Amino acid sequence: MSNQFPASRLRRLRQSDSMRTLFQETAFSVNDLVLPIFVEEETSEYVPIEAMPGVMRIPESRLAFEIERFARAGIRSVMTFGISKHMDATGSDTWDENGLVARMTRICKDTVPEMIVMSDTCFCEYTSHGHCGVLHDHGVDNDATLINLGKQAVNAAAAGADFIAPSAAQDGQVQAIRSALDAAGFIDTSIMAYSTKFASSLYGPFREAGGSMLKGNRKQYQMNPMNRREAVRESLMDEQEGADALMVKPAGAYLDVIREIREASRLPLAAYQVSGEYAMIKFAAQAGAIDERAVVRESLGAIKRAGADIILTYFAMDIAENGL
Ligand code: PBG
Ligand code: ZN
Repeated sequence: MSNQFPASRLRRLRQSDSMRTLFQETAFSVNDLVLPIFVEEETSEYVPIEAMPGVMRIPESRLAFEIERFARAGIRSVMTFGISKHMDATGSDTWDENGLVARMTRICKDTVPEMIVMSDTCFCEYTSHGHCGVLHDHGVDNDATLINLGKQAVNAAAAGADFIAPSAAQDGQVQAIRSALDAAGFIDTSIMAYSTKFASSLYGPFREAGGSMLKGNRKQYQMNPMNRREAVRESLMDEQEGADALMVKPAGAYLDVIREIREASRLPLAAYQVSGEYAMIKFAAQAGAIDERAVVRESLGAIKRAGADIILTYFAMDIAENGL
């Protein structure tokens, strides 16, 4: 045999659809997806989010209807974000038992009890300055914010949230929330930690969606996107503090981080395909530059391949309704 030609021919296993499907290493389905939703109080209008074509703010009065529609399509889990008309310096509406966080959770759980509700646990949608906690003269006061995170977590748990999902990026937030939950008797309420959260420019459209008041940035508490060792450390610390599941956010530009955390921890790992990732795909598809469905499949498949068990994505409902 002439050694001019290859002995191994990878093309053999790529000859047909059946062959390719048989040897495909990674797959995902709607069962792995969480749908993030925006719920606005004191309005009856759906508000389209310009920077996220196809995504709307849901008026609170329509939330029950929408949750039923999501469930019927096959969505098993939602992450709730509130759009508040009751902002103040600390975000105190979040720990009011009749505030938006509590009401959204109750509406979801009362309407479809089997829907897994993850309550995004932060303050930036509820503070008049848009930061993720209490401000003092040199930024967000970490330890004062921890106390408020505990209060918000207990409030959401009392309203029925399955997961508390702290996204405030404060040091010690998982431990503070775990002890507050346990002290209040919510020993079975889980924590999905936004454990490795980068200070990303890909959150831009979300800030429009959430009506953020932020001026400036969150670089004093969210992570530098250039740091890989620190990214692993962040997630491992949350594991130590009692997180039930970890998360990397954003997802697509951080596949190396997803892989490394997957190998460093045995906890379930989520990845959040954020608003800017969604917008990039949507607008490129609208311009005719890419095939939306194919790129959605590829981007989510790559996040799975990197090691995520669960993906938070604004494409979840589209996939539930129209398949992959
Ligand atoms: C708030 C929060 C943000 C996102 C989820 N929770 C924005 C931020 O940190 O500024 C981003 C989600 C997205 O962009 O889709 N703590
Ligand atoms: Zn925040």
